[in-house]
Amino acid sequence: MGTQKSSNVHWHQGQIARADREKLNGHQGFTLWFTGLSASGKSTMAVALEQKLHEMNCRTYILDGDNIRHGLNKDLGFSPRDRNENIRRIGEVAHLLRDAGIINMVAFISPYRSDRQLARDLSKNDGTFIEVYVDCPVDVCEARDPKGMYKKARDGVIKEFTGISAPYETPENPEIHLLTGLYDVGECVGQILNYLHSQRLIR
Ligand code: ADX
Repeated sequence: MGTQKSSNVHWHQGQIARADREKLNGHQGFTLWFTGLSASGKSTMAVALEQKLHEMNCRTYILDGDNIRHGLNKDLGFSPRDRNENIRRIGEVAHLLRDAGIINMVAFISPYRSDRQLARDLSKNDGTFIEVYVDCPVDVCEARDPKGMYKKARDGVIKEFTGISAPYETPENPEIHLLTGLYDVGECVGQILNYLHSQRLIR
């Protein structure tokens, strides 16, 4: 998946650079990469944060696993290989959105460290890829079970379910570590906003 199949394709440079777009937008393009178990609160955080950023006149966009799997990634399932490709594509989309000067929030389980690292590498460690570990114990996620997925996984109806019958590799050095089993949405969003202010990514 990592190599390029097409030959005879050449990069075409535009007249407007990322910095020009960011100037117009009034902020840098950056990615908040939410990773965590199903029902840990990734989408909830992204939605609540987007509302705050929008009120601050920021240009934002959410990429949510459940939604993207209805369109762009509808050809992918949940095998390790398909999850690799899921995250590879979304890492590239997030990279394009950064180039467009958009603040993008990515809410995918993204269970593999190496996949998250590849997505991060596209940013060349310029500080615009922010990994947010949405940390919630699996028993709390299972008790929430908003979509009834954990029950189906326990009953063997859903195979390869993250946290039950498929692995989740916890982030080792996330920029932001949210404890969503302990703190409410407002507190967690506050923690993210504090980080963004401290890095001067928002004013
Ligand atoms: S990822 O692992 O490839 O990053 P992604 O975030 O796109 O997963 O999709 C996760 C969503 O798909 C979950 O919120 C859940 O609703 C649904 N889902 C269906 N089957 C599975 C499964 N086997 N493991 C995890 N999530 C699943």
